[in-house]
Amino acid sequence: MFSRAAFISWLLAVPLAAASPACRCFPSDACWPSNNVWSQFNKTIDGRLVKTVPLGVPCHAPNYNAETCEVLKDGWLLPEEHYESSSSVMAPFFANGTCDPFHPVSKPCTIGNYVQYSVNVTTPTQISKAVKFATKYNIRLVIRNTGHDYNGRSTGAGALAIWTHHLKDLELHSYKDAHYSGKAITMGAGIQGFEAYEIADANGLQVVGGECPTVGLAGGYTQGGGHSALASRYGLGADQVLKWEVIDGKGNFITATRDNKYSDIFWALSGGGAGTYGIVYSLTSKAHPGTPVSGFNLTYTNANISQDTFYRGVELYNTYLADIVDAGAMSVWYYTNTSFMISPITAPNIPVAKLVQMLKPFLNGLDKLGIEYTSTASQYDSYYSQFKDMQGTIEVGTAQYGGWLVPRSVVQKNNKALVDAYRYINENGGTFIGVGLSVAKKVSGDVYNAVLPAWREALIDTTLTTPWEWDDPALMLERQRKMTEDFIPRLRALSPDSGAYMNEGDFRQPDFQKVFYGENYAKLQKIKAKYDPNGIFYARTAVGSEAWTELENGRLCKTGN
Ligand SMILES: Cc1cc2nc3c(=O)[nH]c(=O)nc-3n(C[C@H](O)[C@H](O)[C@H](O)COP(=O)(O)OP(=O)(O)OC[C@H]3O[C@@H](n4cnc5c(N)ncnc54)[C@H](O)[C@@H]3O)c2cc1C
Ligand SMILES: *[C@@H]1O[C@H](CO)[C@@H](O)[C@H](O)[C@H]1NC(C)=O
Ligand SMILES: *[C@@H]1O[C@H](CO)[C@@H](O)[C@H](O)[C@H]1NC(C)=O
Ligand SMILES: *[C@@H]1O[C@H](CO)[C@@H](O)[C@H](O)[C@H]1NC(C)=O
Ligand SMILES: *[C@@H]1O[C@H](CO)[C@@H](O)[C@H](O)[C@H]1NC(C)=O
Ligand SMILES: *[C@@H]1O[C@H](CO)[C@@H](O)[C@H](O)[C@H]1NC(C)=O
Ligand SMILES: *[C@@H]1O[C@H](CO)[C@@H](O)[C@H](O)[C@H]1NC(C)=O
Repeated sequence: MFSRAAFISWLLAVPLAAASPACRCFPSDACWPSNNVWSQFNKTIDGRLVKTVPLGVPCHAPNYNAETCEVLKDGWLLPEEHYESSSSVMAPFFANGTCDPFHPVSKPCTIGNYVQYSVNVTTPTQISKAVKFATKYNIRLVIRNTGHDYNGRSTGAGALAIWTHHLKDLELHSYKDAHYSGKAITMGAGIQGFEAYEIADANGLQVVGGECPTVGLAGGYTQGGGHSALASRYGLGADQVLKWEVIDGKGNFITATRDNKYSDIFWALSGGGAGTYGIVYSLTSKAHPGTPVSGFNLTYTNANISQDTFYRGVELYNTYLADIVDAGAMSVWYYTNTSFMISPITAPNIPVAKLVQMLKPFLNGLDKLGIEYTSTASQYDSYYSQFKDMQGTIEVGTAQYGGWLVPRSVVQKNNKALVDAYRYINENGGTFIGVGLSVAKKVSGDVYNAVLPAWREALIDTTLTTPWEWDDPALMLERQRKMTEDFIPRLRALSPDSGAYMNEGDFRQPDFQKVFYGENYAKLQKIKAKYDPNGIFYARTAVGSEAWTELENGRLCKTGN
């Protein structure tokens, strides 16, 4: 029986609850739109609605097809297979094993953590309508570009996705404002690295993008920061931005530049995290004059040397890193406790002879340690020719990730302790991936953006990985725990005021607000509240995401409900 007071508070609570329900509407709920409503919606968006059929369907009964499944299995670790799909994601933990070629045929295929529907958008109006539809029906909204995201931010259970992959407009032109005068590239939100590199190369230009040629430029990459083989020369991806076209949380189309009345969202989109403030429709970035580019790579193993000697080689490389990046080069390198691989150093506008000269002391040092190595040094006419020759393919679906930005001061003053931490991590199952760069103010120049300030001091953007196994969820959780509670804290202890790259960081990172966004967090929250007043955009570890909690079945609910 209701008491009178309880009845009144129930009466008062009802309209509030209806206006702002505690959870997103889920497919099994009464509030979920009927087929008829979906179909009406489809008509308003030019028939662009796609119902999810998970990519792995042919690998499970009753739709099992041995041949098709084998083809899928062969391609599953390549990005290509996933970014052509309207729903698949590359990060295996977030695909959640509900429909892939690595689980038994007898296990039924379910949509699970994949989105329910996608809008294969081609116009801003379709995007705006999708935002309004999701808001009206209280449906979880996801922005999906390529599905590369390591932290599962381009998928979500019970969600409607805005799929930007087919926004492929691409144009080179001149650009002039109060801060920049030169060539620029305007890219639809679906443009991927290789498409921008190709057109730039053909026109004697260079644009900043990732090592993986298929990562999208306007989505997670540039909005999250974006490191590049060209970063020590031009800064991060976010440092290149001149203009954004974006649809905000109310469905309004906005053109934001540094100097117009939308400079706040311009600032936030440039490094303040993707999937948070709006749906980017296009990005205009600086395009730099082309230069010759040299490259260098090197490998050695622990064969015939002690583990101490192996790590002395690791330590030695760190001591030359500052010189390498200060010359404008960027290094990617990897090691476990058995093999070390620089793959590659990219040196824009540095002749190969000069690059080799610069590395001579390091090579002499390896000789002195008795470390035998193999190396290659080459000269190329352009960035894209170097990239195609020296940047190996990067597999996906093989690991779980975490990271830390190691400041130059730690490498220079505390190298021994740093290498001890890396060695510990290796010996406990973690692989090191380093991105050695300098994106200090003197490199990035006059920019206005929300890039995590720790990037400006960083010398080693460290990414740590642990190997993925498809059929051992308990072990995978244990490896996540190791990453969060053991590996990253060891690096953090050496530079507690630094942070981590949000795109390659640990999705379980404690105090991610400080670690991924630093002092920008409060300002970013205000900008989000202004452009997304209904809180329609959610992505794990994004600004404002602490307001939401994902339940075990993937349903998104307001935190505390
Ligand atoms: C193989 C591989 C190599 C990589 N190499 C690099 C590298 O060299 N340098 C580097 O910095 N990073 C690299 N990354 C990390 C990469 O930057 C992130 O995975 C990034 O999130 C990918 O962005 P996306 O838009 O292509 O992917 P998605 O997974 O589709 O999206 C990622 C995030 O961006 C949001 N988003 C996508 N499109 C939009 C849009 N139009 N508007 C608003 N939000 C949007 C999504 O909601 C999601 O939160 C790599 C990742 C992989 C898997
Ligand atoms: C949306 O409409 C198009 C065109 O009529 C159709 O091909 C497509 O299947 C529809 N999508 C859904 C989910 O019904
Ligand atoms: C993910 O998998 C777990 C274990 O099978 C299951 O309990 C959970 O509901 C799944 N989550 C989603 C969103 O499908
Ligand atoms: C998405 O749209 C593009 C461009 O119109 C089209 O080529 C592609 O087939 C569509 N994909 C799906 C799954 O609807
Ligand atoms: C290790 O030593 C053996 C025997 O001297 C030699 O055959 C082998 O090539 C060496 N391997 C490496 C990687 O140096
Ligand atoms: C080094 O670069 C060459 C191309 O110049 C390539 O063939 C080789 O595989 C690369 N090695 C490593 C370890 O990346
Ligand atoms: C190397 O690391 C692995 C774990 O990645 C560990 O099992 C092994 O003991 C280590 N080897 C040495 C010599 O430290």
